[in-house]
Amino acid sequence: MCGIVGYIGDKDILSVLIVGLERLSYRGYDSAGIAVVSDDEISVWKHPGKVHRLAKDLETTTSHARVGIGHTRWATHGIPNDINAHPHCDAQRRFAIVHNGIIENYMSLRSELVKEGFLFRTQTDSEVIVHLVDKYYNGSLRDAVTQTVKRLEGSYAFCVVSALHDNHMIVARKNSPIIVGLGKDENYVSSDVNALVAQTKRVVYLEEETIAVLSDQSVEMYDFSGQPRAHTVSEVNWTAERSEKNGYDHFMQKEIHEQPSVVRTILDTYVKNNEIVFPKLSFSTKDLKNMSRLIIQACGTSWHAGLIGKYLIEELGRVPTEVDISSEFRYRRLLSHADEIVVAISQSGETADTLACIREAKSKYFSILSFVNTEGSSIDRESDGVIYTACGPEIGVASTKNYIGQLITLYLFSLHLGRIRNMISDDVYQKHIHDIKALPVAIENVIAQAPAIKTMMARYYSAKSIIFIGRGLNYPTALEGALKLKELSYMHATGYPAGELKHGPIALIDDNLPVVGIVPKTATYKKMMSNIQEVKARGGRLILIATEGDTVAKQLTDDVIYIPPISDELSPVLAVIPLQLMAYYIALNLGCDVDQPRNLAKSVTVE
Ligand code: M6R
Repeated sequence: MCGIVGYIGDKDILSVLIVGLERLSYRGYDSAGIAVVSDDEISVWKHPGKVHRLAKDLETTTSHARVGIGHTRWATHGIPNDINAHPHCDAQRRFAIVHNGIIENYMSLRSELVKEGFLFRTQTDSEVIVHLVDKYYNGSLRDAVTQTVKRLEGSYAFCVVSALHDNHMIVARKNSPIIVGLGKDENYVSSDVNALVAQTKRVVYLEEETIAVLSDQSVEMYDFSGQPRAHTVSEVNWTAERSEKNGYDHFMQKEIHEQPSVVRTILDTYVKNNEIVFPKLSFSTKDLKNMSRLIIQACGTSWHAGLIGKYLIEELGRVPTEVDISSEFRYRRLLSHADEIVVAISQSGETADTLACIREAKSKYFSILSFVNTEGSSIDRESDGVIYTACGPEIGVASTKNYIGQLITLYLFSLHLGRIRNMISDDVYQKHIHDIKALPVAIENVIAQAPAIKTMMARYYSAKSIIFIGRGLNYPTALEGALKLKELSYMHATGYPAGELKHGPIALIDDNLPVVGIVPKTATYKKMMSNIQEVKARGGRLILIATEGDTVAKQLTDDVIYIPPISDELSPVLAVIPLQLMAYYIALNLGCDVDQPRNLAKSVTVE
């Protein structure tokens, strides 16, 4: 949600800020803006819409400024127009700020500041920050920010520059992520590492309630009471090339094609001599043996991975497991017992609801295990144990390769539990390891069907709605197929457990409604096929995801996408790939922006 960049140094500031914003634009793309300080003045450029529109405005503009900030917005308060676009300035343009988060007490602050004569121009919550800085300024920008944060409630990462101080900028953080990138004679600010990796690999993740003062030569950290705070420098191992399209038309297409290598990387990382090893799991064998319950909580696609994780953990690890949507989990009474672990699953590691849940669970003395893609993220740092999904940067707003990474790491974790808890024999354990090693080639076979899926989808993109049905481990696959289609194509879609159709949704079936049946040869195959027959009997247009060699599927419809034979436990990995490709091609047929669908943001850092 909203991306922030900042720069101080000798490089061409406009291009550094624009490139940074472009790399963060998956965090929000309602408007973009930058502010720079030169000759004791602040210059501001803003444009509604995506960053490239602002970049176009600036094509012929030059600046010799050495300090500046930028913002790409996901609107929360105020419509996405140029007035509400960040940066926001005070009336005399002495200060400019960019903000990510929500200031929850902005209404009362705004009334107070209006009474005191401060002039508001926007409908945003963020504007109060700049007026508070103005109000408290008495010669020191850091002091003004220290006074300001004492007044703010909610979540924020913000960055301030001043026409009165062209040699430094100030950053503050509470409940929203922000990172400082360290250079030689220059320093950077960014909401996440993606905007930084092209410039520097040395970063500092700001701790909660920290104020940072950046010059081109130094970075100082303070807590909210103004006391100096030590900081740790981390090395990022992502390369800038991993955040490029590398010849693909879209990031999503590239990320779908990276899925075989994601599985290979995870195997290289966690399977040593056919044994599963998690270096940062942190829980002892005794903890894992005695564990009485796991409670998984996550959002969106990560929640779907969690639903499959429950099946795997209960089947292979034999630990009772619950799964909650994070935004719901927070509001239920959490009854804590000894030996229970709360699990967070998150690509970004910054999802506000998921993060809030782990904080809530920690306050009730639960231990926290996280499955996270982004190293150094808040969820990574605040968890007791971590298993990285090791997918590298995922830029497409619709999650694809990271979902596969989540499924594979949950599968390995379940196997690991089963082994430690003596629930599976050595032979069975080795059979599972063998199956997973065969997976990358099987995924390649499914992806190779992309041209055929593209042709097939040309017959479906004009549908008003699509229903996805599955059972058991592939009921969450149905949910994921429907989510991908909704977010990419804006077409109504719903995922249903196939056995529930007859309890109501079957009333929707007619000869206009496409129904995607996920029918690999698993334990629920026969029951699934009965449900498919029920749909066919009512004229539904069937698309089936079936196992190679399934001749019955072909008798039911011409539109069958085959996946290679696979174990029940790994079937969701192969079955979801045709659904990703279906959503991708339907969205392209409808002229949708597949990498940056409307109204969405990659990293949802507000609750
Ligand atoms: O970063 P997270 O995994 O915590 O994000 C959770 C959801 O916001 C995310 O999966 C979202 O549903 C995606 N757009 C789905 O493609």
